[in-house]
Amino acid sequence: MRVLVIGSGGREHALCRSLKLDPQVTELHCAPGNAGIEEVATLHQIVPTDPGQVTELAQRLGVDLVVVGPEAPLVAGVADAVREAGIPVFGPSRDAAMIEGSKAFAKEVMAAANVPTARARTCVTEAEAAAALDEFGAPYVVKDDGLAAGKGVVVTDDREKALAHARACERVVIEEFLDGPEVSLFALCDGRTAVPLQPAQDFKRAYDGGEGPNTGGMGAYTPLPWAPEDLTERVMREVVRPTMAELSRRGLPYQGVLFVGLALTADGPKVIEFNARFGDPETQVLLDRLETPLAGLLAACATGELGGHPEPVFRPGSAVTVVIAAENYPAAPVKGDAIKGLGATEHAYVIHAGTKRVDGEVVSDGGRVLSVVGTGPDQETARRNAYDLVSRVELRGSFHRTDIAR
Ligand code: AMP
Ligand code: GLY
Repeated sequence: MRVLVIGSGGREHALCRSLKLDPQVTELHCAPGNAGIEEVATLHQIVPTDPGQVTELAQRLGVDLVVVGPEAPLVAGVADAVREAGIPVFGPSRDAAMIEGSKAFAKEVMAAANVPTARARTCVTEAEAAAALDEFGAPYVVKDDGLAAGKGVVVTDDREKALAHARACERVVIEEFLDGPEVSLFALCDGRTAVPLQPAQDFKRAYDGGEGPNTGGMGAYTPLPWAPEDLTERVMREVVRPTMAELSRRGLPYQGVLFVGLALTADGPKVIEFNARFGDPETQVLLDRLETPLAGLLAACATGELGGHPEPVFRPGSAVTVVIAAENYPAAPVKGDAIKGLGATEHAYVIHAGTKRVDGEVVSDGGRVLSVVGTGPDQETARRNAYDLVSRVELRGSFHRTDIAR
């Protein structure tokens, strides 16, 4: 199978790494990729959000499968264009990806499908926003309606700050605060059938102890020894299948991965958000543990044959990933610094996110620069193996959380 992956982050490096290990994959391409992906795939410099360029590349390479990593190409209609050209593609259509692209649309679908989630109001004017803040009370949750790369959400006890964020956005969703630990569950979908991966947890705040600004994720681990045993089945029953059915009813059959961000509240799991793509860094640890060859699974989603495919199986043991972020991430990350110490150990390896190669040298080129995945028979060992390798990586000004999976 010839496969083309679209994207350039840690998620795409993890995807490419697993695809490379799948004996079915004979050729692996990535566009645009990064300095780590370059070691396992042939890179192509195109604009990943341009449906025409992606389709043209896929045709020229004669690939059997296109895997779209990030949300921006999905919302730009890349999967639609590739599918229209007759090439199987892993990733939902532009309209189905609005489950991530518009928080208001996601809320509407959840309401229609009776999916447990925070009560919410969509607001355009300041008066509407003020009324919604008072209806739900503190802590206030204010979300930019559109895509904001994980930075559009403000959770605060300060009513003035909440209102200021609402004012700065064109359209906001204001909702009830959900109290409880957060869990990510990803379901692979082929338009009819959905199968779960195992739950994972990420750490969204920049600094130890959950302090500092929200980020795209500073680390993750799987499995979750503390999670209720019926969690996955319950979320499939109460969230994933009803959501799939509602999207199909609207003529938007969903092919790709549905990322369900949940809060485990006293009233059971409730949806915090949907994403139309694999979450990063969770994907790094999930794919590390996934035993089922990845290409076959993703291809089955793309061709509507997931029902006849063996369900994903996970290896026992634990994986922990720790993100190494650039100085000043997430506000204004510093780029262009040389990175040293990029080896692997027996039980840990580096995943590249924001890196590129300049004159043969790997330099930082994004906010989340690298992550280190550690593995072991249990979480504590995996964690130790990850941090042992983190301490060997040298990047001026960089920082990481010290409490991932602790
Ligand atoms: P989102 O972009 O929707 O994932 O939101 C980013 C983060 O904000 C989430 O991971 C939560 O930590 C927090 N958050 C979002 N919505 C809520 C909510 N209704 N209640 C509590 N925390 C929330
Ligand atoms: N780790 C959360 C995300 O990818 O949005």
